[in-house]
Amino acid sequence: MTHEPVLLQEVMGFLAPLSERKDGVRVLDGTLGLGGYSESILEALPGVRVLGLDRDLSAISHSEERLGRFVPRFRAVHGRFGAMGTLLRDEAPFDALVFDLGVSNMQLTEAERGFSFQHDGPLDMRMDPHGGAPTAAEVLMREGAGELARIFWEYGGERYSRQIAARVEAERRRGRRIETTGQFVALIRELLPAPVQRKMGIHPARRVFQALRIYVNDELGELESMLSALPGLAAKGAVAVIVSYHSLEDRIVKHRFRAWEKEEGRGRVLTRHPIQPGEEETERNFKARSAKLRAFSFS
Ligand SMILES: C[S@@+](CC[C@H](N)C(=O)[O-])C[C@H]1O[C@@H](n2cnc3c(N)ncnc32)[C@H](O)[C@@H]1O
Repeated sequence: MTHEPVLLQEVMGFLAPLSERKDGVRVLDGTLGLGGYSESILEALPGVRVLGLDRDLSAISHSEERLGRFVPRFRAVHGRFGAMGTLLRDEAPFDALVFDLGVSNMQLTEAERGFSFQHDGPLDMRMDPHGGAPTAAEVLMREGAGELARIFWEYGGERYSRQIAARVEAERRRGRRIETTGQFVALIRELLPAPVQRKMGIHPARRVFQALRIYVNDELGELESMLSALPGLAAKGAVAVIVSYHSLEDRIVKHRFRAWEKEEGRGRVLTRHPIQPGEEETERNFKARSAKLRAFSFS
């Protein structure tokens, strides 16, 4: 299993000044995933200790195996970055805090996790299946058509959000459950007019799947809580680097960084405009096409 780390050189560029520091430098990789960022940091910066956080236990065990050679400089913790204020209080302060939001390739490609519109599996989509949150299938069963339409529109920008939501509700009234990714994809395909599907240039279910995933994992709420806790975990002179993949996420990061600089006097925004991958990276790695990196330096 591989996950090509997005904007890796750019992330590493913001961490480069740490190489001038001696021992005791701490980095938080708040979205450990398959350990791509952590591995590069541990290799390039020998004096640095990395704490990797992820809400997905399979990401934790994969990375512990991949990065075992760096122990004790590397340690992994299972948990949500939205809870890091309490979870990591005793590990702070960090000299760099890095977040690569969204899902990993491992989550996307394993059919049984239910994230993928390309592989049939249970409609689950929870990054932490042990956390007690409802699955995507349960959300479709539970929420009314109005709320489902809001989710599909707000988090996915899906123009047929109301029609899809109404159809889900109609299926439910007939006593039919939508339990697999394949069933949900078929419903969306049936509903979207063929010429619209042809013109979309993306898989017809992509937007709705993304929207449900954001909702199921409360991704925007997690991001807000993480940003509230971040300054409290940052050392003097620390850098925060956040890579996001959705305009709603990028807007939240942009506004929070600006408030830290202008209203709270916590330091300075290092990226007036977000850094985006070049053509070469987006051609090589489809996932990178929507990535935006923003960085902040604490004073
Ligand atoms: C894009 S991947 C990170 C990939 C990593 N940078 C690499 O190079 O391998 C995002 C990871 O963040 C995790 N994640 C997403 N939201 C999270 C949250 N609120 N708390 C903790 N981990 C989260 C996901 O489970 C996933 O493993």
